[in-house]
Amino acid sequence: MMDIIWELLIILHANVIVCISAQPNLPKIHEGWWAYKEVVQGSFVPVPSFWGLVNSAWNLCSVGKRQSPVNIETSHMIFDPFLTPIKLNTGGRKVGGTMYNTGRHVSLRLDKEHLVNISGGPMTYSHRLEEIRLHFGSEDGQGSEHLLNGQAFSGEVQLIHYNHELYTNYTEAAKSPNGLVVVSIFMKIAETSNSFLNRMLNRDTITRITYKNDAYLLTGLNIEEIYPETNSFITYEGSMTIPPCFETATWILMNKPVYLTRMQMHSLRLLSQNQPSQIFLSMSDNVRPVQPLNNRCIRTNINFSMQGKDCPNNRAQKLQYRGTNATFTGFCCYLFLGIVVLLGHVD
Ligand SMILES: *[C@@H]1O[C@H](CO)[C@@H](O)[C@H](O)[C@H]1NC(C)=O
Ligand SMILES: *[C@@H]1O[C@H](CO)[C@@H](O)[C@H](O)[C@H]1NC(C)=O
Ligand SMILES: *[C@@H]1O[C@H](CO)[C@@H](O)[C@H](O)[C@H]1NC(C)=O
Repeated sequence: MMDIIWELLIILHANVIVCISAQPNLPKIHEGWWAYKEVVQGSFVPVPSFWGLVNSAWNLCSVGKRQSPVNIETSHMIFDPFLTPIKLNTGGRKVGGTMYNTGRHVSLRLDKEHLVNISGGPMTYSHRLEEIRLHFGSEDGQGSEHLLNGQAFSGEVQLIHYNHELYTNYTEAAKSPNGLVVVSIFMKIAETSNSFLNRMLNRDTITRITYKNDAYLLTGLNIEEIYPETNSFITYEGSMTIPPCFETATWILMNKPVYLTRMQMHSLRLLSQNQPSQIFLSMSDNVRPVQPLNNRCIRTNINFSMQGKDCPNNRAQKLQYRGTNATFTGFCCYLFLGIVVLLGHVD
């Protein structure tokens, strides 16, 4: 009964929360007290619009000015000729790791002795892979956290790295300047799948982590295989997409998706947020809504004018992602200070 009254209060007035959370013995305020969606039964758990209100340590989720994810308007990207390709350093080795159902994501963590680093692109330092995390939707065409020209994809792979040159571990880096680099790869449904995703999502493997806290060991993984065949990317400065939403992440969105099969997508949707004794609640739609871009700059290493002066057509060719309804018109390319800025609008 108390739960219900309390829930109603919170739903009615966001500022009630501030009063409530000031009370000393409120039981639920802890690291894991957040959710993506309303829970059908049981007590209130804060959804994304409340993350920043229920815990003062998470206030950046509400008041931050460079939050993630964002919608990328490709017409607002700026070509930065100084962005070098991303360099992946696996030491030529295959790696092992453990795949978890965290109740919120499919999460893959490498064994401690396997160090995979990336550098180049927008990075000044080398960053070490900490976790591979999957976000996905309950329906096709939703489930990615980032949007491209307002459109979502069926999922998003996030490779989360921390700056191991400046910081001793992920926890320390996550709250520090230049702490994190997240490589983001959109997922699309196709007839065949990416070989790395196939290792994670084939029925024999994915069904081992159906319930929260399930874990399954994988060996002989080649991290290189998760990367789509492209050197092109889009980058901006943002935040973690889960509480505490620290604004310490440089995002790198690869300019090509990876593919998974309809069957694999289906298996993902059959993962539960709960333990086996509890009701089945699909993990899908584990997505934070897009946040305001504010004054941030979105840079890319895609040189739209590479193949001549015919800017609009080139753009259509070079950019792998195009909204199905979007056509680009009214383009001009301006060249100044060695940087090409593309201006235009999407109909
Ligand atoms: C990653 O960086 C660490 C620390 O510099 C280094 O020991 C390790 O060998 C690097 N890993 C690879 C695969 O280069
Ligand atoms: C991370 O590093 C900090 C500072 O060196 C240390 O205090 C902390 O215990 C470490 N945390 C973990 C989870 O290893
Ligand atoms: C971008 O493409 C234009 C047109 O081909 C070329 O003049 C320019 O040098 C290119 N810039 C870079 C950095 O590659």
